[in-house]
Amino acid sequence: MHIFITGATGYIGGTVGRHLAAAGHVIRGLARDPAKSDALRAIGIEPVIGTLDDSALLAAEAARADAVINCASSDHRPAIEALIAGLAGSGKILLHTSGSSQVGDAVAGNVLTGQIFDESTPLVVGAEKWARYELDQRILATPGMRGVVVCNTLIYGHGKGLQPDSVQIPALVAQARDSGAVRIVGRGVNRWSTVHLDDVCALYQLVLERPDTQGFYFAENGESSYAEMAEAIARRMRIERIEHLSEEEAIALWGLNKARYSLGSNSRVRALRARRELGWQPRHASAVAWIANEMALPG
Ligand SMILES: NC(=O)c1ccc[n+]([C@@H]2O[C@H](COP(=O)([O-])OP(=O)(O)OC[C@H]3O[C@@H](n4cnc5c(N)ncnc54)[C@H](OP(=O)(O)O)[C@@H]3O)[C@@H](O)[C@H]2O)c1
Repeated sequence: MHIFITGATGYIGGTVGRHLAAAGHVIRGLARDPAKSDALRAIGIEPVIGTLDDSALLAAEAARADAVINCASSDHRPAIEALIAGLAGSGKILLHTSGSSQVGDAVAGNVLTGQIFDESTPLVVGAEKWARYELDQRILATPGMRGVVVCNTLIYGHGKGLQPDSVQIPALVAQARDSGAVRIVGRGVNRWSTVHLDDVCALYQLVLERPDTQGFYFAENGESSYAEMAEAIARRMRIERIEHLSEEEAIALWGLNKARYSLGSNSRVRALRARRELGWQPRHASAVAWIANEMALPG
């Protein structure tokens, strides 16, 4: 299959692209920095130099591909409109990478919610994440192509493309390295569903290679509280102090989006549909076990 992927130099896109190339697919990948071309070719991805704002380029690449994967941004509407324009009427698949912070509740780390979403549960989305939800719905409701939204949770594991690090756990680790204390938002009783990057790759491959996949899928293979992840990071890094930040302190450190939604919220989901319909069987089960046994220590 000829596949066009955005975010080819990133954590998800680079690893997914490399995985699919190794599985025999022909991959062209969007990169905005020409200096990364050789490194992309070395992992089996032919670079296409451009940005998410190059609508004509995105539409042309989508039109010539058998399938399109967006891994650059869960929120960039113009890029999605361009990819849709390129796919219009083709019946081909657009696999969009979304994220479960859209169901995050702003509890500043201090409340454990009992609310767990699966694909049949109406999502509860706050105003700040509404645009992401609407973009997912735009893709799912577009006729003439197969729109698939994979709503990833907290992804962990080492990236095998050009970017080895994910978003949430590496942010805590970098902060701990710099400050000597593992810092989390509030008490850290808030829980996030988690998924290993290798299992994400397997899910994307299943979605792409089946001729009939369409619709919304969560991706998750376990869940942990931030307190549990912080304890595991502290043990792994041999750090004794865990500090509990107020939301204001966390926003000052990480910015509003990361502090409130990525680190301070609950985001608990179950990937029922991928398991039931696609036979997806995640091999990993626990971000805490990965931190304890496999996570690289920061340099
Ligand atoms: N990692 C997670 O746990 C997770 C979970 C759920 C959802 N998500 C979402 O998935 C998306 C990708 O996440 P990630 O962790 O893979 O992030 P990442 O490592 O920062 O990768 C982002 C990729 O998109 C590219 N990109 C960004 N803006 C671009 C633009 N304007 N034009 C062209 N390329 C652009 C980056 O290029 P450069 O290399 O040039 O910067 C990079 O290749 C994000 O929207 C993220 O919020 C992530």
